[in-house]
Amino acid sequence: MDYERTYARYKALVDDYLKLFCRQTKPRSLYEPLRYVVAGGGKRIRSVLVLLSCEAVGGSVQSALHAAGGIEILHNFTLVHDDIMDNARSRRGRATVHTKWDSNVAILVGDELLALAYRAVLQTQSPRIQEITKVFTQGVVEVCEGQAYDKEFETRSDVTVNDYMLMIEKKTAKMVSVSSEIGALIGEGTRASVSALRRYGGYVGRAFQIQDDLLDIVADEEKFGKAVGGDLVEGKRTFLLLEALRRAKGADKALLQAVVTNKGAPRRLIAEYRRIYYETGVIDAALRRVKQDIARAKEELNHLPPSGARATLAWFTDMLLNRTY
Ligand code: IPE
Ligand code: IPE
Ligand code: MG
Ligand code: MG
Ligand code: MG
Repeated sequence: MDYERTYARYKALVDDYLKLFCRQTKPRSLYEPLRYVVAGGGKRIRSVLVLLSCEAVGGSVQSALHAAGGIEILHNFTLVHDDIMDNARSRRGRATVHTKWDSNVAILVGDELLALAYRAVLQTQSPRIQEITKVFTQGVVEVCEGQAYDKEFETRSDVTVNDYMLMIEKKTAKMVSVSSEIGALIGEGTRASVSALRRYGGYVGRAFQIQDDLLDIVADEEKFGKAVGGDLVEGKRTFLLLEALRRAKGADKALLQAVVTNKGAPRRLIAEYRRIYYETGVIDAALRRVKQDIARAKEELNHLPPSGARATLAWFTDMLLNRTY
């Protein structure tokens, strides 16, 4: 089976859906930046997970398309507001909305995307629509809570790896888990399949964020599409920083401690921090965590009946582990 092609096909389905769904043009100050965001690419990971999860429990891709589009729109909303909160200048290789336009525009675009996300999800034809909406809403709530922790941690000096794990569960893992769970609900999966896919998404989502934090320091900026080193500049409490703080000694430890004290690092020192991360072994440690979660995620797939969709999900899970952007 050509998994790569299946992914491309499903991604194109989502892209087409989004283009059609977000075709409004006026008021221009709202819809121009909105279409810039939605049509601006992205891996479409969450929406493809909705489609594959639905298929993996015996449902049709078509029946899950509204929810897949809705999840993707919601994700794009979180990115637009996240970029304001993180002072990020680039995403997907282009200027962020608040830098290309301004923060007021980006706030409103985000608000509209949130409403459109609900509009799309609510078009789903399913006897379980109430449960689907409830699961989706809980996802939105947790993204907000996770983002709040993320910001709170920037100015706290006592954050632990456990705190970090809770934060990423909420800001990232939950919505990935919601994606696979909603797919399974639309496909009218059994209770056991729905739970397995919910747990699957949770592991995938956790691995995904640790991987994102890792790429933030080791990626090729052009491929990554975001400014490398941004987490250190903003003083983010990533697994890498927290674990390196525990392991480093002497001058290196002092340099790491400065991120906490000064609430961020100067951009010119990013290469130095990268060296410390490699030398303390935290890059490897993070990779091990990613691999462990990916393995756990794939184990959950064994609770589903064998199918082409299940095999594609397994491939997709590995693909995430090997991504460079
Ligand atoms: C970025 O998500 C935000 C994180 C949770 C790390 P993606 O890496 O899925 O972003 P796009 O949609 O592919 O650009
Ligand atoms: C984002 O985490 C999580 C969201 C809920 C948007 P990051 O702040 O690390 O995501 P990027 O790196 O900007 O994409
Ligand atoms: Mg952020
Ligand atoms: Mg960010
Ligand atoms: Mg990041």
